Amino acid sequence: MSNDAKRFAGEKAIEFVEDGMIVGVGTGSTVAYFIDALAAWKDRIAGAVSSSEQSTKRLRAHGIEVLDLNATGTLSLYVDGADECDPHRRLIKGGGAALTREKIIAEASERFICIIDPSKQVDVLGRFPLPVEVIPMARSLVARNLLRLTGGQPVWRDGVVTDNGNLILDVHHLSIVDPVGMEREINQIPGVVSVGLFARRPADVVIVGADPPRVL
Ligand code: A5P
Repeated sequence: MSNDAKRFAGEKAIEFVEDGMIVGVGTGSTVAYFIDALAAWKDRIAGAVSSSEQSTKRLRAHGIEVLDLNATGTLSLYVDGADECDPHRRLIKGGGAALTREKIIAEASERFICIIDPSKQVDVLGRFPLPVEVIPMARSLVARNLLRLTGGQPVWRDGVVTDNGNLILDVHHLSIVDPVGMEREINQIPGVVSVGLFARRPADVVIVGADPPRVL
């Protein structure tokens, strides 16, 4: 997918930013375009809450202040990308291993704007392997439970440690017909920190990068 589509989506999301806001900022290559566009707003916003060390670095490089979510309270806006998006704006996220902090900020935000290129749109979630962040000692236990629960194939993302010091299992070969139910069930496995299904709290608005961008 061309970077232009990601750039069109990232730049369009700036239209949702208002003076004085604290902006929740996601992670990934599409969000990088949003952060770069946000730089022009740095003196008009009150700061940002970041979902990853990667985004924190980029925000700070632009001189945008990064704030602690514990000090900000509820955010009015969160902008983030996704790995898949269905027609109900439910998402798979976590390809960049930042799913837990992303889910926390999504939950803390009144409005979640998801920015994607057209390749991320699907009818049914699951073609993209579903990321699950797990406590290291529970890796095998969680993998066995995921296999039994979902019928998919969990694969350890070897060599990746999340910003929270945990591991990622990617569950392959899924067709997720009940994303809310699967999110709930996976969350109940001991050792799971979070699952990259954003169904209980989907995006409120989806921007698909094109010229002109499509707002869903
Ligand atoms: C990060 O963990 C993910 O949730 C990203 O939001 C997702 O992988 C989208 O990334 P790109 O914008 O790089 O495709």
